[in-house]
Amino acid sequence: MARILVTGGAGYIGAHVCRALAARGDLPVSFDNLSGGHAHAVQWGPLVRGDIRSPAQLDDAFREFEPEAVMHCAASIEINEGQKHPFPFWENNVGGAINLTGAMVRAGVKPIVFSSSCAVYGEPDRVPIRESEPRTPVSVYGQTKLAVEMLLADLALSDDIRFAALRYFNAAGASPDAEIGEEHEPETHLIPNALKAAAGIGPARLEVFGSDYDTHDGTCLRDYVHVVDLAAAHLAALDRVMAGSSGLCCNLGTGRGATVLEVLQAVERVTGSPVPYDIQPRRAGDAAVLLADTELARTELGFVPEASSIDQIIADAWRFHARKWGA
Ligand SMILES: NC(=O)c1ccc[n+]([C@@H]2O[C@H](COP(=O)([O-])OP(=O)(O)OC[C@H]3O[C@@H](n4cnc5c(N)ncnc54)[C@H](O)[C@@H]3O)[C@@H](O)[C@H]2O)c1
Repeated sequence: MARILVTGGAGYIGAHVCRALAARGDLPVSFDNLSGGHAHAVQWGPLVRGDIRSPAQLDDAFREFEPEAVMHCAASIEINEGQKHPFPFWENNVGGAINLTGAMVRAGVKPIVFSSSCAVYGEPDRVPIRESEPRTPVSVYGQTKLAVEMLLADLALSDDIRFAALRYFNAAGASPDAEIGEEHEPETHLIPNALKAAAGIGPARLEVFGSDYDTHDGTCLRDYVHVVDLAAAHLAALDRVMAGSSGLCCNLGTGRGATVLEVLQAVERVTGSPVPYDIQPRRAGDAAVLLADTELARTELGFVPEASSIDQIIADAWRFHARKWGA
């Protein structure tokens, strides 16, 4: 049994990573300040209420639990918030990563798997996006993810740490037993908001931003990957860094994707309810198409996104939300 410190373990992806770690016999120790996560999502190991902006709290956690490796999922994630208030984003995402890696070095813990993002690519010229494409983020959020990748790469050069950075595309879905799922507040992601609209919860009509993109139905196309598949990839990446490898920066997506309207149609199929929506003007910074090239994940991590069909993603998300909402 390996003890793994999971920052952001009370959050959406972190909780699924903890669930997957425990399922194979590892002990996940969640380190989370509950700013965006939920204590009820921490079910597979202890919860340390701590803040990655505090070196002392991180040192205490390393001393108490003696983890062998770190999964770093904690971050500020709300893109618009980062545009309005960049400093707290840099402080949390980059300052937090500096504190975390500092605590790792002091504790002599080298392996780390980092939650990066396709936001490091900005608005790419070519899709599907290969890892070798230029990294030109168009948001503060994307800049902070890129900065942490650079920090990890530098620290790996001096063998202070060993890392894998996983560039998720759009995480979606929920655990198949409907125990944990996406619970962001505010929720900005399309699928939970479309499910809300179908269930008649929240704003009566969904806003669809732009219908004149260069896609087959004019709405943006995104690469949705089931959170259970993401969690499986974390285990593979963890095994890799724990075995001594370092430096992998890898997309996690399916390479297929769905447009906004296709997602809404899938929500209607799964829930049996219409999703009322209004077309709004385009939003600044929304690329028409974001699709992962998945070759590196397949060859280096054996990544096969088995649960990531759009209907399965939405069916699992719906079971979780319907249970939560009593719908
Ligand atoms: N959800 C996606 O589609 C997606 C896509 C790409 C990358 N990511 C990245 O994956 C990671 C997890 O995302 P998520 O969707 O699960 O978000 P989330 O908000 O559900 O989880 C983040 C967790 O980090 C915790 N946290 C934030 N700041 C903290 C701090 N200072 N100290 C301790 N804990 C702190 C929050 O309380 C929360 O539990 C993030 O790093 C995010 O940037 C997510």
